[in-house]
Amino acid sequence: MSTDTAPGTATPGTAHRKVLLLNGPNLNLLGQRDPATYGSATLADVEARTVAAGSELGLDVVCRQSNHEGALIDLVQSAPTEGFSGIVINPGAYAHYSYALRDAVDAIDIPCVEIHISNVHAREPFRHTSVTAPVMDGFICGCGIAGYVLALRALLSRLDG
Ligand code: DQA
Repeated sequence: MSTDTAPGTATPGTAHRKVLLLNGPNLNLLGQRDPATYGSATLADVEARTVAAGSELGLDVVCRQSNHEGALIDLVQSAPTEGFSGIVINPGAYAHYSYALRDAVDAIDIPCVEIHISNVHAREPFRHTSVTAPVMDGFICGCGIAGYVLALRALLSRLDG
């Protein structure tokens, strides 16, 4: 019996890998915060779309958001031992200056993909640098909330080598 599936879709009967979706500071305000820049979708909308896309890709997406640098670092550090295969992270403004978050991502041995909803390179100069990007396995920005699903696909391609 053939078990072929379309590329990028889940294989029936195989265990789903767990992926952590992390959103950093102020992303809990999506939907009300600067809609011209970030759109009208709420964080709950973003999480639901990413979970649904993950399910089609054979990934169990677990969503977390925190406004606190240390809490994000704790979640990154514990992800491998919690059984996560990879991380999709929107670090928010921490991307621009948190060497501690950068070091946490660098210290773990599972792939991480960074996503920003807005095109940070087309905005204020302080957003043009991501100190976390160099330790990531991929970087997506400026694609709106569609970027979360793109990041998930990029992570999957890393996981599948
Ligand atoms: C953001 C971009 C950051 O510069 C900003 O501080 C955010 C959101 C984005 O998703 O576009 O909080 O990460």
